[in-house]
Amino acid sequence: MAKLTVEGFGTVDVEDGKRLVLAIEQDAHVDVLHACGGNARCTTCRVEFIEGEPKQMTVAERQVLTAKGATGVRLSCQIVCDHDMTVRAISRLTGSGRPDPGGPPAPEITPPPQWIAV
Ligand code: FES
Repeated sequence: MAKLTVEGFGTVDVEDGKRLVLAIEQDAHVDVLHACGGNARCTTCRVEFIEGEPKQMTVAERQVLTAKGATGVRLSCQIVCDHDMTVRAISRLTGSGRPDPGGPPAPEITPPPQWIAV
């Protein structure tokens, strides 16, 4: 079990290997966006890490962050909970004006991950 803390929302236990976007939504009950359904295409699932930022990322995450010029954030759909983490949920349905958070992300990271060091 990994511990996930979402700033302002508390700390929850998360099943090892669960996608961070799903842990934020289902375990921490925070309305994180995932407009592309967790496919590393939209960046709406972005979070800021306060502690425990993973030292690896998927090639898909690197590509979309670079394409959008996004710095200081990580994509929660491209991260698995395999250690304790503290994040800030900076992209939520609340206040977004969107009708819904996006399609449901699959249980596993999509597209199939290729890992690189951060
Ligand atoms: S990039 Fe779209 S949900 Fe993560």
